[in-house]
Amino acid sequence: MSQANSSDADGQIWNIGRLINWTSQYLTESGSDSARLDTEVLLSEVLGCERIMLYTRFEEDPGDNVRAKFRELVKQRAAGCPVAYLVGHKEFFSLKFKVTTDTLIPRPDTEDIVQNVLDLTKGNLVEPNAIADIGTGSGILAVTLARELPQVQFVASDISDAALTVARDNAAFHAVADRIEFRCGDLCTPLENQAFDVIVSNPPYVSEAEFEQCDRTVKEFEPRQALVAGPTGLEIYQRLVPEAKDRLHPNGWLVLETSPMLAESLKQLLAEQGYRNVDIKPDHSGNPRVVIGQI
Ligand SMILES: C[S@@+](CC[C@H](N)C(=O)[O-])C[C@H]1O[C@@H](n2cnc3c(N)ncnc32)[C@H](O)[C@@H]1O
Repeated sequence: MSQANSSDADGQIWNIGRLINWTSQYLTESGSDSARLDTEVLLSEVLGCERIMLYTRFEEDPGDNVRAKFRELVKQRAAGCPVAYLVGHKEFFSLKFKVTTDTLIPRPDTEDIVQNVLDLTKGNLVEPNAIADIGTGSGILAVTLARELPQVQFVASDISDAALTVARDNAAFHAVADRIEFRCGDLCTPLENQAFDVIVSNPPYVSEAEFEQCDRTVKEFEPRQALVAGPTGLEIYQRLVPEAKDRLHPNGWLVLETSPMLAESLKQLLAEQGYRNVDIKPDHSGNPRVVIGQI
């Protein structure tokens, strides 16, 4: 990377437009499949502006300080670090969430959990007063649902204290901290003897073999504990599904994210454990993504 100086030997300025073009090419060659977007997100972060505003500033010389900060981020991105960790935030359900390397980066697929809970409430299949989010990570599910359902109280748990610190910050940022209790511990243990109308979870469901096949941006940077369930991918569900049954009110719902490959097995597990109305719900692309069941 040599775009540090404000101009080349031939006097051409490293203005914003030129920085974007050069860096997009560089990140493409470094293996990013979203190089232009990565470039624009990183540059707008360093400039402190909305990404869309870059398009009105192509001719601007951003100055040496900005170029130096940008160069450092681009170097880390080229080494595989996800953009969300470099800028420290990610959008989920149109809300901005803080993320760190202690938390999984929110995925768009997980928005389907929120949507399914909202569908249950809109269809009057549940009128929740209390919802639990198991494995809350950065807190996206509890915080988003708390924003959408202002009458509901939440308990959000995770095995990682460090993740819970991030989740608490997100709850405070979105002004819902007074309705979410964050607790540390294994699966439903932190729920103690309370009962809930809905339990949501996007637990680890990647098998050990699948994890080895993951892109290095995932394998080397995201917390393994947030992704890997065990040899088959079903191991966390096999503990969570029976535990959740004991923590749901009669007629309460369990709403779980899964992978298209595991959806049928998970559906069967819920049915075996005595859940009713078990169903597989598709994601935006039509893939089996969320499994729901009622107790
Ligand atoms: C796939 S991440 C989901 C995070 C967040 N809910 C989301 O959707 O982005 C799974 C989360 O479960 C947590 N976790 C892993 N094993 C756990 C366990 N045994 N008990 C509680 N939480 C666990 C991880 O720390 C991680 O935050």
